[in-house]
Amino acid sequence: EKVVLAYSGGLDTSIIIPWLKENYDIDVIAVCGNVGQDDKMDGIHEKAIKSGASKAYVEDLREEFVTTTIYQAIKAEAKYEGKYLLGTSLARPIIAKKLVEIAQMEGAKYICHGCTGKGNDQVRFESTIAALDPTIKVIAPWRIWDIKSREDALDYAEKHNIPVIATKEKIYSVDDNLWHVSTEGGNIEDLENEHSKDIYKKIVAPEDGCDVAEYVEIYFEQGIPKKVNKKELDPVDLIYTLDKLGSKHGIGVVDILENRLVGMKSRGVYETPGGTILYEAHNILESATLDKETLHYKQVVSYKYGELIYNGLWHSKLREAIDAFIDTTQENVNGSVKLKLYKGNIKPAGIFADSPLYNQGISSFGNSEFYDHKDAEGFINLFTLPLKINAMKQNKNIIS
Ligand code: ARG
Ligand code: SIN
Repeated sequence: EKVVLAYSGGLDTSIIIPWLKENYDIDVIAVCGNVGQDDKMDGIHEKAIKSGASKAYVEDLREEFVTTTIYQAIKAEAKYEGKYLLGTSLARPIIAKKLVEIAQMEGAKYICHGCTGKGNDQVRFESTIAALDPTIKVIAPWRIWDIKSREDALDYAEKHNIPVIATKEKIYSVDDNLWHVSTEGGNIEDLENEHSKDIYKKIVAPEDGCDVAEYVEIYFEQGIPKKVNKKELDPVDLIYTLDKLGSKHGIGVVDILENRLVGMKSRGVYETPGGTILYEAHNILESATLDKETLHYKQVVSYKYGELIYNGLWHSKLREAIDAFIDTTQENVNGSVKLKLYKGNIKPAGIFADSPLYNQGISSFGNSEFYDHKDAEGFINLFTLPLKINAMKQNKNIIS
């Protein structure tokens, strides 16, 4: 029998290898999905084998990550609870899909992941597996074993000769990829604590941002970012470029108390420098290229879309249906937006839409062919009729 393990190279997923062999008498195939996490990918294959895996795959999923889930998130400007740019939520369906593909290729009946039983990630992994191959069985050690602390895990690693690099106390729970880094646990679990700036892994603190403001121009085609400062970049490079730029200006930190799918509230600090720049640029371009009704309706849809992604329902009919709506709205979202970055702030510095719906002649103060000041009087009479009726009902003194 074989099991495919979602492997990161860290302590938690490393000790899962001997644990699986001991408890299931099974061959472990370690799969590490590279979604742009900062960890060294070079030694990871060897590390998996040394920890007892019979085979290891290291898969570069960065481009797929950007061109499937991240592109849709940008077009929708999807956020959870109005703030979180979904960095972890967007990566999980990509990683889990690869686990399923390898399990099918290897004829493995099981997939194992190292998520705890208290979080969202377990749901995202397992909902993807359920949607893509419901015959695969899931093993979730954190919901089974007695390893409860980092000390237990270190003991277990030592007993089983698992190479462990960092033995010092792990303070935060971190998830890193090319879109964001999330930090949870540690001293931010106490809501009275301000997060300290040495928590940051991508960005410099906004107050320590570069003293010189910097302009950046982003070009979009149907809502998809294609160029930075007039230079065409491949999808992964484009994200990295904006990530670096945003980081040095302290852009894109969010500190929230969010509602997890599994019921509890949880505090998270997220750094999404490149993503924050892209959402802002996209938002500004849409302000000039979407009509009011479509824009307002899209905001409602976007809220639902963010919630759906957070809840692990990427591989669902509703997601496909919302994608179709989003894609239709993006047909005219073409052109560039210039932004000025400075100490955590983003200021609009120019909209260059290919086909803007804004018309200076109409919006400016004088009369024009399509707008006569006099028309406003009749419009306001009809528009305010319910207000007048209400006032008359309330106040009997008004002559009707
Ligand atoms: N709370 C965020 C989310 O649910 C981040 C989760 C981070 N995951 C992790 N394994 N550290 O998307
Ligand atoms: C975990 O519990 O494994 C990480 C946090 C989360 O999934 O929400």
